Amino acid sequence: MNGRSALDRFLQTDPRDVGCDEAMQMLHIYVELVAADAGAAQRYPGIAAHLYACGPCSDDFHGLLAAVTGPGPDTPDRQTADYRIRPARPDEIQRLREIEDEAGTMFAGLGLIDETLDVSFPLDDLARLIGIGQVWVTCPDDGAPVGMVIASVREGAVYIEEMDVLPAHGRRGLGARLLGTVCAWAEAQEYPTVTLSTFRDVPWNGPFYRKHGFTELHPAQWTPGMRAIRKKEAQHGLRVEARVFMRRELTGVRPQR
Ligand SMILES: CC(C)(COP(=O)(O)OP(=O)(O)OC[C@H]1O[C@@H](n2cnc3c(N)ncnc32)[C@H](O)[C@@H]1OP(=O)(O)O)[C@@H](O)C(=O)NCCC(=O)NCCS
Repeated sequence: MNGRSALDRFLQTDPRDVGCDEAMQMLHIYVELVAADAGAAQRYPGIAAHLYACGPCSDDFHGLLAAVTGPGPDTPDRQTADYRIRPARPDEIQRLREIEDEAGTMFAGLGLIDETLDVSFPLDDLARLIGIGQVWVTCPDDGAPVGMVIASVREGAVYIEEMDVLPAHGRRGLGARLLGTVCAWAEAQEYPTVTLSTFRDVPWNGPFYRKHGFTELHPAQWTPGMRAIRKKEAQHGLRVEARVFMRRELTGVRPQR
């Protein structure tokens, strides 16, 4: 809380304040962005102004935020509230490469990737996407990143290029939170869908994304861009017959601009 009195607030009503109805409509998206430390107030200054001014809406906001960032009642050992999600910084590129390499060891011995070929995400593309705010990392409080997600925009949809969490920090819900961050961002940007390419049956690939609302695309639904991605994956030594494209529709409320 800040020290301003109710009278001060009344006298200094912020002209950007969107009012209760619009703030409540957008609250779930706003909360996801706050939880992800993704610049919620900068993106939605009208909602920030409203939450600052309206006690009941502010209470709803804090309640929802606690529900999103706190460990769920059925997962008492999950400590994801100790981790933050924020946009990646340019000086973290090397760390992100290390995370990618170490997470990649989860595929060792599965016979799905030609381990003699380099399948790392190109560093120049990574730098570019960090520069435009489309890479997020998860870090323990005050620690170096332990997970990341890279999003691009392809053919009018947000595409998850890569998502990795260090195995030592895995299965605590960090992947789910990174995924939620991209989906909330995509929705806030008014993109209709999020798509990705992954291995159909590897438990932390297809089944993981299915759990989070993604469904498999039939090859007849593939776009030209997707067919090009498949070609590239084959050249990079991925067993493409074991891979699927998946899509999640973003059906929530669209922000008014
Ligand atoms: C995919 C990945 C980012 C998920 O990160 P995470 O922080 O472990 O994700 P979550 O904790 O939110 O969920 C993990 C879920 O994946 C599945 N999963 C993960 N590891 C598994 C394993 N060894 N055996 C079975 N299921 C597993 C489970 O559904 C698990 O949920 P649960 O722990 O509630 O059962 C991480 O596994 C990873 O980096 N994998 C290697 C790289 C990769 O495959 N990236 C995605 C490519 S599209």
